[in-house]
Amino acid sequence: QRIQVIGVPLDLGANRRGVDMGPSAIRYAGLKKRLQNNAINVRDIGDIFVPAPESRIIENEKLKYLDVIKDVNTVLADQVSEALKNNYRPVILGGDHAIAIGSIAGVSQRVKRMGLIWFDAHGDFNTAETTPSGNIHGMPLAVSLGYGAPELTNIGGFVGKVKPEDVVVIGLRDVDLQEKKMIKQSGVNAFTMHEVDRMGIKEVMEQALKLVTKNTDGFHVSFDLDVMDPMEAPGVGTRVRGGLNYREAHLAMELIAETKKMISLDMVEVNPILDQGNRTAELAVELIASALGENIL
Ligand code: ARG
Ligand code: MN
Ligand code: MN
Ligand code: MN
Repeated sequence: QRIQVIGVPLDLGANRRGVDMGPSAIRYAGLKKRLQNNAINVRDIGDIFVPAPESRIIENEKLKYLDVIKDVNTVLADQVSEALKNNYRPVILGGDHAIAIGSIAGVSQRVKRMGLIWFDAHGDFNTAETTPSGNIHGMPLAVSLGYGAPELTNIGGFVGKVKPEDVVVIGLRDVDLQEKKMIKQSGVNAFTMHEVDRMGIKEVMEQALKLVTKNTDGFHVSFDLDVMDPMEAPGVGTRVRGGLNYREAHLAMELIAETKKMISLDMVEVNPILDQGNRTAELAVELIASALGENIL
């Protein structure tokens, strides 16, 4: 198989410096070598240009750095779409989670109907009307379903990249009150940490994979490292206790690999400034390798 690595050093969606170093940290942790050792053909096209927040002003407190985030995601969508056209599987390194807007827009241009698995402690289902922070990284799932600022929902030329019934969110444990309502109303499938505890990650993943593959041409995986327990992944901007442990996350990725239907993957929110050594980026590398089949014989 052929992989195209695309770095997106965006930190304006989190309004917090450090995540912009995520792509670098993940590369430094040995991504390319690790994949090549698994006989994967890796092409790294480097980073998409992202301006420094210090060079910009916040124009809208409810949609911080909207213009830059729109531009970066527009470029990313093109890159993802181009990679797929050339038969490369895109692996997108964040950067904050706002970059999922571009990855999903790119994939949706290439497939008729896409599934989506969203690993996150958070709902990322806010809009300008509900956001407590104004940070766009709290909005990308809503945007991909067609809710929120038209500047973002329109990227790629049409609104609503995924259907709610083809979307599964896994690992939730810090959802804002209004977000909760939105998630329920939207009709997406959600497995909170409560469900992971009750059913086990194996059962959650089996149900999730059934849902995202049922009526689709394959699925995108958007993995926010904060879905992990902070003991495993301390290097994230918004840590929340009680997340996935090391083995649960690996099993989840291995079950994804077994389907052979993953179209593309985001690995986001690694913040080296907040990390212990580079262990969160190292975990990111291991999880990417697992999603691409490392432990499948
Ligand atoms: N719900 C909060 C907000 O809207 C936190 C979002 C955190 N999102 C993330 N991708 N880490 O600001
Ligand atoms: Mn920068
Ligand atoms: Mn997120
Ligand atoms: Mn999160």
